[in-house]
Amino acid sequence: MSFFAKLFTKTEKQIEPIDMSLVQMDMHSHLIPGIDDGAPDVDTSIQLIEKLMEFGYTKIVTTPHIYKEIYPNTKEIILQGKEIVLAELKKRNINVQFDAAAEYFCDEHFMDLLEKKEILTFNGNHLLFELSFDSEPYYFKEATFQMQLNGYQPVLAHPERYVYWHERFSNYENAAEKDVFLQININSLTGQYGPGVKKMAEKLIDAELVSYLGTDTHHMGHVNLWETARRNPHLRKLVESGQLLNASF
Ligand SMILES: [Fe+2]
Repeated sequence: MSFFAKLFTKTEKQIEPIDMSLVQMDMHSHLIPGIDDGAPDVDTSIQLIEKLMEFGYTKIVTTPHIYKEIYPNTKEIILQGKEIVLAELKKRNINVQFDAAAEYFCDEHFMDLLEKKEILTFNGNHLLFELSFDSEPYYFKEATFQMQLNGYQPVLAHPERYVYWHERFSNYENAAEKDVFLQININSLTGQYGPGVKKMAEKLIDAELVSYLGTDTHHMGHVNLWETARRNPHLRKLVESGQLLNASF
């Protein structure tokens, strides 16, 4: 290990872990059993919820994918799944606020749902949506406009992971200026998604453009990174900035 690498590791270790109860609510995860690429069964849902509670969260809004081509979930499927998880939490005497919304993939199907107002939201009218990881989103501008026109507050999931935006930081500034809230993933700060994504998450925090922090929990692999994430100086900066909306409702 190089001198600088050692120095960096030491600095990160010296930082006191963040108390995530300050953030209070996680608003991005995949914990409804068997309906997307998250928890495959209710036992796993409960295990992941218990980990989120250990981490300090007191409220969890889980957000299964609604992506017609891959995860053709509906509002009804998600709400039925929520009841299954709530019943299991009750059976096991686990006391946590648990609710469900969705992570909408920005496509034509989403535009239809917007028009019909068949949308699951959190924190009142806040709407979590994601873009393609591969290419410039065709529907982005139109979708954000339609969301706002229909009275929803757009919250863009993990903008730091859209590498096609990395070359032009003004994409992020423009989104925030147009009142699109940006939500970064806690594990982006660990380098889990690569050094470019980590750097962009840090840059967004430094530019004070981040409104929400999410765990985007799918499985235990994500949970196992939290101990590293908790000691990240940028995470501390974000949590102490007073800009996060997670705890404000
Ligand atoms: Fe997600």
